[in-house]
Amino acid sequence: MLTGSNKVLDETRQGEATTVEGEWKKNGKKLYLESYGCQMNFADSEIVASILAKEGYETTSNAEEANLVLINTCSIRDNAEQRVRNRLNHFNGIKKRQPDFLIGILGCMAERLKSQLLEEEHLVDMVVGPDAYRELPGLIEEITDGRKAVNVLLSREETYAEINPIRLNSNGVTAFISIMRGCDNMCAFCVVPFTRGRERSRDPESIVREASYLFQEGYREVTLLGQNVDSYRWNITKKGEITDPNAETVNFAQLLEKVALVNPLLRIRFSTSHPKDMTDDVLHTMAKYKNICEYIHLPVQSGSTEVLKRMNRGYSREWYMGRIDAIRRIMPECAISTDTISGFCGETDQDHQDTISIMKEVDYEYAYMFKYSERPKTLAERKFEDDVPEEVKQARLEEVVAVQRASSLKRNLVSVGQIFEVLVEGFSKKSDEHLFGRNSQNAVVIFDKGDFKPGMYVNVKVTDCTSATLMGDVV
Ligand code: 5AD
Ligand code: SF4
Repeated sequence: MLTGSNKVLDETRQGEATTVEGEWKKNGKKLYLESYGCQMNFADSEIVASILAKEGYETTSNAEEANLVLINTCSIRDNAEQRVRNRLNHFNGIKKRQPDFLIGILGCMAERLKSQLLEEEHLVDMVVGPDAYRELPGLIEEITDGRKAVNVLLSREETYAEINPIRLNSNGVTAFISIMRGCDNMCAFCVVPFTRGRERSRDPESIVREASYLFQEGYREVTLLGQNVDSYRWNITKKGEITDPNAETVNFAQLLEKVALVNPLLRIRFSTSHPKDMTDDVLHTMAKYKNICEYIHLPVQSGSTEVLKRMNRGYSREWYMGRIDAIRRIMPECAISTDTISGFCGETDQDHQDTISIMKEVDYEYAYMFKYSERPKTLAERKFEDDVPEEVKQARLEEVVAVQRASSLKRNLVSVGQIFEVLVEGFSKKSDEHLFGRNSQNAVVIFDKGDFKPGMYVNVKVTDCTSATLMGDVV
């Protein structure tokens, strides 16, 4: 979905596109903001929009008329970075015609490449890492004076807790709430700990306040975001020590409960869960509140314990299956999706078959499947050889995708004949006569528009499906 002023390209998983409505006094300057990558990046762009709206920037969907272009970038795989470089070529073309057109790079690529990015991309004016967005107004002033600006300092505290994000290209129904930043896990393949820094949690009060505000504004679904939401903790250290004895401690299960209590009509989703940290407490809380959606994204990465060890994931195949069993026991209707990586260092054909077999065993509703892409500075890059040939990675990925397609179709076929409560999100991409929404399990459901409006809950009986969508009639 590419709409409004902010084009979004989804590199990791799905994301939504968005528009900036400035409530502040305008300064006559126009901002064009483009985001790539994970949901967290989209959420960050909404914080950036808020910071710059206060400075008077008005957004535009036309880069040609912008004074400032900001690209919020992703480094998760090499092709994500290549895509940004290609877009930069396009913006550089505009800059050659309009010399006072300013270009800033935000996000993970900014953090990974730092000032080197200015050397490699001569027309870039500004490089700003994910913890430095509050500094944007000052940095923009520097570049307006004809200098280049870089701020890639990572922080141990920054959570942008009190900044009220401007919802970009919003459907007015669903919104992201960032609950923590950074990651301390050091999975061997992953660049995120280097680009987003140390893990820190956001004040629960500000999270609940944001959820309540969104509900008042008509939103009906929030997705709580973090790289590893199960390690959310407030006022308690990793070792279990309480930092402030007079304040309340909050773990992820408790945070979920607090947000669920905002209003029974506000749906709660969250991403991403980590198999090593997901507790039964979280599952019981999900089961207790009907408005916490029955959907868990639980990346497996590989079905081979040997590969998982090299990936430094902190769990074995058996442990992972134990977590799947717990989900099924506590919430029999819960949908589960995953991430997989094909062709990680040293992956044998048997390891690959283990991934195929775990996917068949779990029978996921959905999966995001990737080929391994070596990232600079990561554990894997330093310790292991990227030794699986490209053709083998590709062939294995295709096999994984085929298995998943069969699972998704099978899962959707089971839904035919069932009735689901669907939160209406908007018009179907393919037809103005149809609306679409999601059920609790996160499946997309399409139905006749009737008199229904986005934000309404409707019961839909599923009559047909593809591997990607359910079609049905409102009952
Ligand atoms: N190569 C391929 N896929 C990766 N991911 C993270 N790092 C890499 C990499 N270097 C995938 C993982 C993660 C998802 C967000 O992206 O599956 O869960
Ligand atoms: Fe990367 Fe692992 Fe952290 Fe996810 S949990 S962001 S894969 S290091």
